[in-house]
Amino acid sequence: MINKSTIDRIMEATDIVEVIGEFVQLKKRGANYVGLSPFANERTPSFTVSPAKGIFKDFSSGKGGSAVTFLMELEKFTYPEALKWLAKKYSIEVEETVETIENKEEENHRESLMIVTAFAAKFFHESLLETPEGTSIGLSYFKERGFSADTIKKFELGYSPDQWEAFSATAIKEGYQQQFLEESGLSVKRENGTLYDRYRGRVIFPIHNFTGRIIAFGGRTLKTDKNVPKYVNSPESEIYHKSNVLYGLYFAKKAIREEDNCYLVEGYADVLSVHQAGIENVVASSGTSLTVEQIRLIGRFTKNITILYDGDAAGIKASLRGLDMILEEGLNVKVVLFPDGHDPDSYVRNFGTNGFKKHIADNKKDFILFKADTLLKEAGTDPLKKAEVIREIVESIAKIPDSIKASVFIKECSYLLKIDERALISELNKMRLAKAKKGSPPPTALAPSNEDEIGFEQLESEKTLEGESQEKEIIRLLLLYGNKVIDWDGLANTYIGPFMVAELSDVEFDYPPAKTFVEIYRREVENGVLPDEQYFIHYLEKEIVDLTVNLIATKYTLSENWYEMHKILVPDEQVNMKATILGAIFHLKKQKVGKILEGLRTELQKTPDEADQEILLNQYMHMKKVEKTISEFLGSVILK
Ligand code: UTP
Ligand code: MN
Repeated sequence: MINKSTIDRIMEATDIVEVIGEFVQLKKRGANYVGLSPFANERTPSFTVSPAKGIFKDFSSGKGGSAVTFLMELEKFTYPEALKWLAKKYSIEVEETVETIENKEEENHRESLMIVTAFAAKFFHESLLETPEGTSIGLSYFKERGFSADTIKKFELGYSPDQWEAFSATAIKEGYQQQFLEESGLSVKRENGTLYDRYRGRVIFPIHNFTGRIIAFGGRTLKTDKNVPKYVNSPESEIYHKSNVLYGLYFAKKAIREEDNCYLVEGYADVLSVHQAGIENVVASSGTSLTVEQIRLIGRFTKNITILYDGDAAGIKASLRGLDMILEEGLNVKVVLFPDGHDPDSYVRNFGTNGFKKHIADNKKDFILFKADTLLKEAGTDPLKKAEVIREIVESIAKIPDSIKASVFIKECSYLLKIDERALISELNKMRLAKAKKGSPPPTALAPSNEDEIGFEQLESEKTLEGESQEKEIIRLLLLYGNKVIDWDGLANTYIGPFMVAELSDVEFDYPPAKTFVEIYRREVENGVLPDEQYFIHYLEKEIVDLTVNLIATKYTLSENWYEMHKILVPDEQVNMKATILGAIFHLKKQKVGKILEGLRTELQKTPDEADQEILLNQYMHMKKVEKTISEFLGSVILK
């Protein structure tokens, strides 16, 4: 953990224009700087940096925040990584809070495993390039497979000599401890306690973690004997958790971000050949089925995955269900099949980069449609099997968190499956309901679309919560004026923030970021602190930073000639501060009361019991009065 005073010093030293200027060409415009968005493709600059507020806002992608947020978004740093980057830039010594002894030991243990692994990688790489056995057996194998000297060097490929102890004996002689040789899986212990080499006689594919350190190996046999396992891989260890690692990610991440897409292949050889062909956004799950962690790892760089399958039908069918997981993570999945007998490796070697790219472009299918297609073909004309397929497809669609995207798939599948769209929608809503009952939050139900009656906008607006804008208005006022003093009719001075949170203590916020925001605000006020803009811009949770920046960095607050350009007179809310504050509070209250009234009405309709009806009716009348009072009050405040 980086300690608080270090964080403070880093924040003080950081000049946001200087930091962002390292990545984006910025031009001064008035008090701000503008440039082309690094997150979106654009011709007219919409990326704005405000040195005064210490924030950036990208109007193309919607991203915004502090210098730390910027580094996290662009470089995919974690929070501590971003802080350390800034500390290095401004030569600030990072003080980390003292770790407990156990932490330290664990850290040392991991580091020892890393060091022995790095030593082994060097040993294997040198064996491949510099020993007669390595060059005549290992290197000639790689060359025959078409791997260039550059590829061999970049991926640090290696060779483990065909002797029982070539590696283990060297490592012991160099002083590496037996414990770490064993734990890393590089050596295996005999019954008499001595060690022998796990990978002897195999070519070596080192596996890098996402910061580029080698953490494991895959060793491929060169024998064709069916009884010898083709690959021997490192066991799980403290530094190698198979489910969290993707082969090739370290070398692919830059291209993945640039292309905004990640190709997923099956084997080491596929990654190497495709990468060598200049298509660098490629990773492999290394034979195991894809895990959620791996998907999230990809999701840090892009939301688009294209899976490249070799043409083995049985394998494909088995993996179809596992892929729903990718949909659940909100990623877009495309699938490409290669002709029978080909995998990405052999295809790119035979048909070259352009042939490979063309094959992908011509055969790329959306996962859901691919699944529907594959399963339908299998079901043939059997109506029962077909019904089962439909259920399974709708199940996949139900996992897509974005309801707009889901509705598009429903349309396409209705066409493909020749089924009425309404039937699919009703099936989908049933599944979602069942899922919601199990505990996850209910997603918005899809309404049947009468062809184009329900347009895009309407669906979009379904996504914003009722009352969200009123809640956001409260947050905006807290941010801008919370620490300012208001003079109520010359009688008393109060800070606006504490006044507002006190007034709103009986209101339940529904929009989750707003709810959290108000909780934080209230907690700080209770601690005697008045949090300001900067407090929330530098808050640790991204959700809060996003909300803050979106509210304070609108096009019009960031651009000085906005008034001029649009010839619009923005009513100055500061002129009648009292009306602004009370107006916002009571608009929100009115909205909440409206919601309660609506709930009571539905309950009334459902309740057959007369006594219950009477109670409900009383509550209803009471709330109606409250609503009227609020309306009258609002009228009087606003009109003043
Ligand atoms: P493949 O058999 O397709 O391997 O298995 P490959 O890398 O394409 O090898 P070549 O082209 O025959 O040389 C795909 C991946 O499955 C894992 C490896 O990660 C391999 O790259 N695998 C396969 C194993 O871990 N163990 C095995 O015995 C076989
Ligand atoms: Mn292969």
